[in-house]
Amino acid sequence: MDSRQREAGKMTRFRRRRTAASFSSDTWTVARSWPVVCALSTLFALLVACNTETLKSISTPSPPSASAPTENAAVAAPSSPAASRSEKWKSLTADGLHDPRSPAIKLLQQPAEALAPLPSDEAGNKVDWIAALDQGLINPRTNIRPDTHINVLDLDIFLSLNGALPIVKFPHRQHTMWLDCENCHEQIFKKKAGATPITMTDILEGKYCGQCHGAVAFPLTECNRCHSVLHRDFKKALAESKNKVVVRPK
Ligand code: HEC
Ligand code: HEC
Ligand code: HEC
Repeated sequence: MDSRQREAGKMTRFRRRRTAASFSSDTWTVARSWPVVCALSTLFALLVACNTETLKSISTPSPPSASAPTENAAVAAPSSPAASRSEKWKSLTADGLHDPRSPAIKLLQQPAEALAPLPSDEAGNKVDWIAALDQGLINPRTNIRPDTHINVLDLDIFLSLNGALPIVKFPHRQHTMWLDCENCHEQIFKKKAGATPITMTDILEGKYCGQCHGAVAFPLTECNRCHSVLHRDFKKALAESKNKVVVRPK
């Protein structure tokens, strides 16, 4: 992305903030005080910028944009039978998150409109975000500052080798397409296979993988998305993995 596009993005956001502020002062007398105007416009800017839950807390990617479909992160033109899938997402007025009386509600894109064209998933917010990324349907912004170095790492780590459930395959590639090494290392995970004392109980309590999964990435109820390798298929999985592979010691 070049600096012109970045400027354009900034301008769009700036204009949206202005809209929110003038709405509040014209329409709602309560909004005459600056703190309220600021809070409302910030909230509105956030709502516009984050029209998907999954991407809300991830710093690098930019989610499908609400009103500027040609922007960098725009969703591709609808190609799937969107109508039949649209009941998967509640409308903004009914989702229990947005104020249905807010004038902003008419300006925001409906989740069904934004998300239906993307590859489908049964869990979470019903989009397979990795497939969307791999198919080039979304193009998240990788860096805000031009000097940020992007580093995609092709390295699979197999964990939970002796568990009752299938073995966990942690793929670095799919994570580092959105995330920086520092999002995980060394705060959440040590940079050495086997060095972090991960347990499922901790994950369910929101630690380790659970810092993101169940919060901004697919939910923890999707056991087999992580526990994806059957014990009897382990050798085959190692052989088939084209990436550099590390097996976490027992
Ligand atoms: C989403 C989280 C996440 C991100 C982002 C991430 N890693 Fe990791 N990384 C892990 C986990 C989990 C392990 C295994 C830790 C353990 O077993 O204790 C690991 C292990 C490693 C290891 C140890 C491999 C070995 O041979 O023992 C290296 C090296 C590593 N990561 C490098 C990187 C680099 C470089 C980046 C950025 C390009 C990165 N990681 C981004 C989660 C992540
Ligand atoms: C810093 C945030 C973060 C952490 C920590 C994290 N993940 Fe993820 N993970 C993501 C995001 C974002 C995605 C992509 C969105 C989605 O699929 O919901 C993802 C996707 C995945 C996928 C799907 C890959 C695909 O090809 O579809 C697997 C498997 C996965 N993570 C396993 C793990 C495991 C196992 C751990 C812990 C060892 C872990 N993740 C820790 C953020 C994280
Ligand atoms: C986001 C990825 C992820 C999801 C989703 C997930 N697990 Fe795990 N699970 C892990 C990791 C990572 C470990 C620990 C690996 C290790 O021992 O190093 C683990 C370990 C386990 C263990 C071994 C015991 C332990 O505490 O280490 C069991 C049992 C388990 N998981 C059950 C489940 C069940 C049941 C579900 C679905 C309800 C589930 N897991 C969903 C990643 C996941």
